[in-house]
Amino acid sequence: MMGMQATNLQNLPENYVMKFWMYHAMTWPQISFVAEDHKGRIVGYVLAKIEEDSEEKGEPVHGHVNSISVLRSYRRLGLAKKLMLLSQEAMASVYKAEHVSLHVRKSNKAAIGLYRDTLGFEVAKVEKKYYGDGEDALSMRLSLKDP
Ligand code: ACO
Repeated sequence: MMGMQATNLQNLPENYVMKFWMYHAMTWPQISFVAEDHKGRIVGYVLAKIEEDSEEKGEPVHGHVNSISVLRSYRRLGLAKKLMLLSQEAMASVYKAEHVSLHVRKSNKAAIGLYRDTLGFEVAKVEKKYYGDGEDALSMRLSLKDP
């Protein structure tokens, strides 16, 4: 948890109190993952949740990626792709999630490349001024059902 939080603080302006990290790890332990270096230090993570009230809202059960990041010197090695695929597989197999969703800054070319080009996500909608500084978010999603 500490390693995930420290990595998040280095990589992203969206940061969370320890209670938030713990809540996710304790509630949906199968769908968050870390990448470690050879000394066991955390160099990347994906933090995810399941939208469990979605059936009441008329939406199918689905996963949501809250945050993913990889330390700068470990990027472009395929770690984020691997973390995402592990989480997506667990969302589908453990929770029968029908799709996975996430938000990403409109200007975040690296992350959009990962989601759209490598993993096949599509833009579901644009959420205006979603972020604290006023930037728009792309709300993206990927079906987890077999084609
Ligand atoms: N520019 C363009 N495309 C990129 C880039 C980049 N800088 N980085 C990754 N990609 C795309 C490419 O398609 C790449 O495939 P390729 O290397 O075969 O061309 C593919 O993503 C997979 O790349 P990975 O090596 O798996 O990605 P990496 O481990 O470097 O992590 C990440 C990508 C997480 C976006 C990293 O750059 C990072 O930590 N950025 C800062 C934090 C961040 O923006 N996180 C996402 C916020 S949104 C959210 O959390 C839901």
